[in-house]
Amino acid sequence: MEQLTRRQALTIAAATYAACACCADAADEPGAENPPAGGGDKPKGPAPKEINIGKPGDFAKPGFYDKFRDSQIFVARIENKLVAMSSRCTHKNCAVRLKDGSTTMLRCPCHKAEFAEHGQPVSGPAKVALPRFALKQNSDGTITVETTTSFAEKQWDDPAASITIPAA
Ligand code: FES
Repeated sequence: MEQLTRRQALTIAAATYAACACCADAADEPGAENPPAGGGDKPKGPAPKEINIGKPGDFAKPGFYDKFRDSQIFVARIENKLVAMSSRCTHKNCAVRLKDGSTTMLRCPCHKAEFAEHGQPVSGPAKVALPRFALKQNSDGTITVETTTSFAEKQWDDPAASITIPAA
């Protein structure tokens, strides 16, 4: 069997360390959970630029709607407003999910950050609210989320950051 030179051994060790450091984003921190298969993952690409989420009547109940999670957004009805927010955790970008069947709380599977109905972090390592995306109403009555325009928490009063819908 061929012996490695000292230089080759150091090169392999450095490459191995780099590969481990690259992957050590989520499950290596104290208290981290192993991300569920296909769930706590990082985005495989950018969110779609436009997502048609349907009509106001599709959001009769308050709380989060997770049917657009594959498009990397959550839609939430907050009183008579609809908002759309990123499903990407503001800590290290894992995909957040509804917390244990709740419709008013999101939880990140990577390091347990939790986000309340408005998208603000309430526990865990995330310190920044989930950004919201612009919404527009189409001529056919449907609503489109435009992920190319986002609003940080201090911009949530922007008229484009929510859409008013009829009372349920
Ligand atoms: S990625 Fe760390 S809490 Fe979400």
